[in-house]
Amino acid sequence: MNKKWTAEYSKKLTTAEEAVKIVKSGDWVELGFGVAMAPELIKALGKRRYELKNVGIRETLMVYPVDDYVSSEGQEVFNYNSWFLTARTRNVVNNGNGSTYPEYFNEIPGYYTRYLENDVMMVSVSPMDDHGYFSFGTGVSYHRAAANKSKKMIVEVNENQPYVYGDTFIHISDVDIITENHAPLPAFPAPPLTETDKAIGGMIADLVEDGATIQLGIGAIPNAVGLALKSKDDIGIHTEMFVDSMMELVEEGVATGKRKSIHKERAIGTFAGGSADLYKYINRNPMFESYPVSYTNNPCVIMQNHKMVAINATAQVDLTGQCVSESVGTRMLSGTGGQMDYARGAYSSEGGKSFLCLYSTAKNGTISKITPTLTPGSVVTTPRTEVEYIVTEYGIAMLKGKSLKERANELIAIAHPDFRGWLREEAKRINLI
Ligand code: COA
Repeated sequence: MNKKWTAEYSKKLTTAEEAVKIVKSGDWVELGFGVAMAPELIKALGKRRYELKNVGIRETLMVYPVDDYVSSEGQEVFNYNSWFLTARTRNVVNNGNGSTYPEYFNEIPGYYTRYLENDVMMVSVSPMDDHGYFSFGTGVSYHRAAANKSKKMIVEVNENQPYVYGDTFIHISDVDIITENHAPLPAFPAPPLTETDKAIGGMIADLVEDGATIQLGIGAIPNAVGLALKSKDDIGIHTEMFVDSMMELVEEGVATGKRKSIHKERAIGTFAGGSADLYKYINRNPMFESYPVSYTNNPCVIMQNHKMVAINATAQVDLTGQCVSESVGTRMLSGTGGQMDYARGAYSSEGGKSFLCLYSTAKNGTISKITPTLTPGSVVTTPRTEVEYIVTEYGIAMLKGKSLKERANELIAIAHPDFRGWLREEAKRINLI
């Protein structure tokens, strides 16, 4: 270890409570991304809610409690904003106590470069290497771009935060304050697969060829598709999120990446979310490389992979193929994330395919997710012009090159049988068929 960097480390090292004292009223604070957030710093900042006023918060995929930011005291202090909501933060926004940003995931680094500034950024990083570099680990995404636009950079070093190869690093000379916390990272082991997940996974797997490169999005269904690919040969991985099923595909010799067009024999992503085993597996593993999301999710990069297959989830589809994935009505669920980036990139790749999946019903089978028109207030995440395949447990609808009438018929055929009669009547009433 270079003595200069160890001396600098000791000089910059302090406690979380001391570190957050640099936050002043009126500041913008960037909390970063998912599992790469800094929980001790976030907690320490929350404790200052009695002293601060009007502190802007930005984050993505919150995995820690947010009560300090949105409790009755916190509301007056913190102006809460998210790039992508989770079950923890949905109600913050839906109850009017925070806001969310419309975004293309691939563009977020550019929003920082062009428009946004932080007074303070605080994120978790891996331990420092011999050359003075920390890895952003499970949350590379837009961290470098945001760090470049932050007046002060605080890192919370965690030995459980993986050191990931690729373009994931920040040097100690670009860090102002260091804290340490070696708590395990929040783990999200994949839930057991249902029969519906397996049905959807199996149908998509039938359309994935040997040598294809895959992206799997957020939700249970994309993970099921990953597991259904175990009989394939030489699968490649070019994704935004590393998930457990990808680790299994690599471990079992299925995801070799040998036939990829770019980044051959490497799995490329920009963040990770899954089990503790996954975080360990990507640590110093030459197979896994992470890059800023402006690269991994750039449709022009994605489409350079031949046979690129994108698999993402959606929440509601109307009979013309408009896909609502980030809200239903005015109730926000999540964010655009990389859904559009990958729908565009995969469809444009030679031999590529883009799938959007959903269960046919929601709320214990009481409502159809395929609807004649969208619930008023819904946000269209993927417009009907971008949609290629839509998949439910009842089959696959291919919409490209299809008229509105053909689309409606295809989508009714994959709706839950209990709702097909109603959908047909409504489609006639609005002159679709
Ligand atoms: N009508 C009413 N409510 C619906 C609904 C519908 N058609 N579809 C989903 N919901 C509700 C569910 O009931 C659930 O509500 P609850 O939390 O109150 O129980 C909530 O929405 C989430 O649905 P769920 O089926 O659990 O979601 P999921 O975890 O499988 O994720 C998406 C599905 C669509 C929300 C998720 O994939 C997403 O956010 N996608 C958008 C971004 C994206 O795909 N990016 C690429 C990867 S980052």
